[in-house]
Amino acid sequence: MIVSPTDIPSQEKRLLVEQKRLSRIPMTTLFEENPDRMEKMHIQASGLDLDYAKNRIDPPAMAALLQTARASGLEARRDALFRGEPINTTEQRQVLHPLLRGALPEQHAHRAQVDETLARIQQFVGDVRGGQLTGVTGKPFRTVINIGIGGSHLGPAMACRALTPFAKRNLDVRFVSNVDASDLSEKLRDAAPETTLFIVASKTFTTQETLANARTARNWMIERTGRLDAVERHFAAISTATDRIAEFGIQPAFTFPMWDWVGGRYSVWSAIGLPLALSIGYDQFVEFHRGAAEMDQHFQQSPLEGNMPVVMALLSFWYQQFWGANTHALLPYDHYLGDFPSYVQQLDMESNGKSVSLQGERLSHPTSPIIWGAEGTNGQHSFHQLLHQGNLLVPADFILPLHSHNPISNHQDLLVANCLGQSRALMVGKSLEQALTELTEAGMDADAAAALAPHKAMPGNRPSNTLTMDALTPATLGALIALYEHKVFAVSVLRNINAFDQWGVELGKQICNSLLPHLTDDADCQAFDGSTNRLLNRYRTVKAERASQHTVASHQKNN
Ligand code: F6P
Repeated sequence: MIVSPTDIPSQEKRLLVEQKRLSRIPMTTLFEENPDRMEKMHIQASGLDLDYAKNRIDPPAMAALLQTARASGLEARRDALFRGEPINTTEQRQVLHPLLRGALPEQHAHRAQVDETLARIQQFVGDVRGGQLTGVTGKPFRTVINIGIGGSHLGPAMACRALTPFAKRNLDVRFVSNVDASDLSEKLRDAAPETTLFIVASKTFTTQETLANARTARNWMIERTGRLDAVERHFAAISTATDRIAEFGIQPAFTFPMWDWVGGRYSVWSAIGLPLALSIGYDQFVEFHRGAAEMDQHFQQSPLEGNMPVVMALLSFWYQQFWGANTHALLPYDHYLGDFPSYVQQLDMESNGKSVSLQGERLSHPTSPIIWGAEGTNGQHSFHQLLHQGNLLVPADFILPLHSHNPISNHQDLLVANCLGQSRALMVGKSLEQALTELTEAGMDADAAAALAPHKAMPGNRPSNTLTMDALTPATLGALIALYEHKVFAVSVLRNINAFDQWGVELGKQICNSLLPHLTDDADCQAFDGSTNRLLNRYRTVKAERASQHTVASHQKNN
């Protein structure tokens, strides 16, 4: 059965009418006709300011979207999330990441274990940073290498980079995620074993990439220090499977629990955030939580029309469902936020990249845009051309901390002017007449100007949100992450899908495991489709050739 996007066809009809009406009204006209547009179309919460006036939306269309949100049961689903109901229905799990930042009541059943884990993190972080915990030779740790992938990597890596100005600079926190040995090799290249601490982060402790990297790191540590007990002193781990951590050889005091009620991509607030806490210190880690908790409160308590995550979700739904925008750009104008687009990519696409409803019915429409982006101003000299003149509608979020942690010369003025210049250029565009006038006024003859003007015209009317904050701090970063978490959840409710499972990644893992034995087999592989067989056999041939060249070379060297 094909389910309609909102499940409520009358809502959809009303929204279609609104879209048709607004498609004929330039955004600049919306500003001209409503001088107080700006006053109405911004929301402030938890240190963030969302300006959503540069969107193809006006009060009647927003009213229709809000009605759709109410009809989808958004308020009830939001309350169910905060009540700790098992809203991850395909896995029968609660979704309690807000609990990790204090958004659930004191008397909550899981509260004690969260508090106990936080206390242990505090102690561990203090001891590593203070030099009370040392490696086997008694030297303090100087390098921390986090081994994890997906949610056990992207959150802490993004946040560590974002909060570099708050970092303990003599503790170098690095991240290894890819099973490609080049990742680990490069991170180990200049690491000193006696001052290196590994963190193995894996919710399941079964993830192929993480375990392969962890085993190689363990061998490296034992070989380089010449001591078997180095594993106990130089490895910490986080997982729901504490028994598997013990089997790996990591001591209980360096083992931190996680719980099945925290999704991987929502886990930076848990002990998965340990590398961040080590980098910025426990007090700032608490600040990070505080900012997120304030956003939780805002999401939970604000009426839908003034609710930042809800408004962002409605706009995302609006553009994908009614304007055909299947991609969404994240454009942080802050070097430290350079990894934020990749982080939100997993958060959004792994959560909402689905094709069946909560009831298991096949959906006829896309449920999540492709999330992508890069830091400004770099993107301006790369893909912004397509944003301005391409025939694709790409809604964008500009993210701009106003104060720079490096206030040198006029760099920040330049950065801010570029950011605001881009969102305005996307909105106002340049008409053919304007382009023509500019060219003729610059002295070009009429024929040449007429030929060039179409290339210089820009359609404009390209929507964007601008999120500003006074400065990027642990608290505002926490709020920013929580904002996108709740936006993603709100979209999932509008789409009637489960944002908290990710069955789609399983098939690839299964097939990978079935391919693996054939890579070391002597016989030609015929087990799969022709393309896969050919590629697999090509790999085997190259591998065998390289191995024989290596044998010949070492034979010649020895003689
Ligand atoms: O393969 C996807 C995934 O399951 C993500 O959801 C998760 O964040 C990642 O793998 C890593 O899983 P784990 O933390 O169990 O190693």
